[in-house]
Parts: sequence; C-alpha cells; structure tokens
Amino acid sequence: MEQLSKIPTHVTIIMDGNGRWAKMRGMDRLEGHKAGVESVRACTEFAVEKNIKYLSLFAFSTENWGRPTEEVEGLWALMFKAIEMELKTLLKNNVRFLVLGNLSMLSEKLQQAIASTVEKTKECTGTTLIVMLNYSGKWDITQAAQRLLEERVQGPITEEDISSRLVTANIPEPDLMIRTSGEMRISNYMLWQTAYTEFYFADVLWPDFRKPEFAEALESFAKRDRRYGKV
Ligand code: FPP
Repeated sequence: MEQLSKIPTHVTIIMDGNGRWAKMRGMDRLEGHKAGVESVRACTEFAVEKNIKYLSLFAFSTENWGRPTEEVEGLWALMFKAIEMELKTLLKNNVRFLVLGNLSMLSEKLQQAIASTVEKTKECTGTTLIVMLNYSGKWDITQAAQRLLEERVQGPITEEDISSRLVTANIPEPDLMIRTSGEMRISNYMLWQTAYTEFYFADVLWPDFRKPEFAEALESFAKRDRRYGKV
C-alpha cells in the first residue's frame, strides 16, 4: 500500500447499501443493518489506527422515518444495543463519542443511553466518532436560522453566524466524504459543511466496506490537489 502522506482530519461517510446487501442474500433488511454495524466497528478502529481526528457517520436521516415501522424500530434497537455494548471499546481506544441531529424525536431510553455514553467518553482525546442521527442538511441550516431569529441577531448575517449555530459548530468541516454502494448523491446530508469537501464514491455496499476499502479511499484522497477555488 502506498504511504498515506495526507491523512484527512475529518472523514464523513454516507453508509449506503445495507438493504441491497441483505436482499442479495435473501435476508431481511435488518440483517443488512446488523452487518453494517460490523463495518462501523471496523472503520472506527481504522480511524483510530490512522489517527483520523473525526469520523462522522450518517446513520439515520430525517427522511428515514418514511421506512416501514419494523425497519425503523429495528434500527433504533440496533443503535441502542451498539451504544451500550461498545462503551468499553470506545474507552479502551480513547474514542470520544458524539451524536448530532434532531434527537428530541428519539425515545427517552435511547436519548439517555446516548447522553450516558457521550458523558463517559467526553475526556477521550483520540478520535471523535460522531453518529448523525435524525439529521439532514436542510434541517441543520433551518435550525441555525431559527436560532439566529430567537437570539435576535442583528444583520448583516455572516457565514460565521450560521456555521457557529449548525450542530457541527465545534467540528472542522469534512475533508473527505465517502459514500458507499455506487450512488453518487449528497442526499440532504451536510450541505453547508461539504462546500470544499473531497467526495469519494465506493462501489461496494456498506456491509462490505471494511479496512482495505477505507484505505483505498484515503489513498485517493492523498493524491488530490485541493485548491479551494484558487489556482
Ligand atoms: C443505508 O442502507 C443504511 C442506513 C440508512 C442505516 C445505517 C445504520 C447502521 C449501519 C447502523 C448504525 C449503527 C451505529 C452504531 C452507528 P440502506 O438501508 O439505505 O440500503 P439500501 O439503499 O440498499 O436499501
């Protein structure tokens, strides 16, 4: 493997293709999500090994509520279990855990489990793992605008006024956005934050995206020349 000279500070991933992975195997969609949790584990481990400071994962969009109730509830149950089970590993690997999105719509039980793991890992100084839950880019910008209104901020409004009120306020914007499953869309994800992000589209489905596939994405990133609109 080529030496990874440029390691991104923040990698964000649109984890796509769990359903198709399961369907190809004649399995229930939830089995695909379960296999997807294994990829979450592998990619977090890889981020720790490569000293990637921030790894954020799009785990549930505001549009995902439109899926069958059984799938939505299955996903929440899976996340609850993962959050409870992984605490020890997160602490062992010095991983700080964060969850960002419109969390008020989640069950009390899940909100408590999230708050507890966030609190227990808050002193960790290695990788920050961010799970984006009930999140969408348009929702994020809208809630920032609503806050500006409530705070009666006087115009003219600056970009900083908005970015400091997004849920990602204290997190550097992603350097690299990866989407799996061959789809080439942003799907209402971090619309504001990806203004200068490098995009990488992997053909494999999310349950098949593990360390070697993550390494390939980093190699592609390392070769790119980021000009930020300049020459
Ligand atoms: C996309 O595949 C996947 C999701 C919407 C859910 C992702 C969630 C997990 C992998 C569990 C996350 C758990 C933790 C702890 C972060 P899809 O269902 O849209 O696949 P399809 O496009 O093939 O139908």
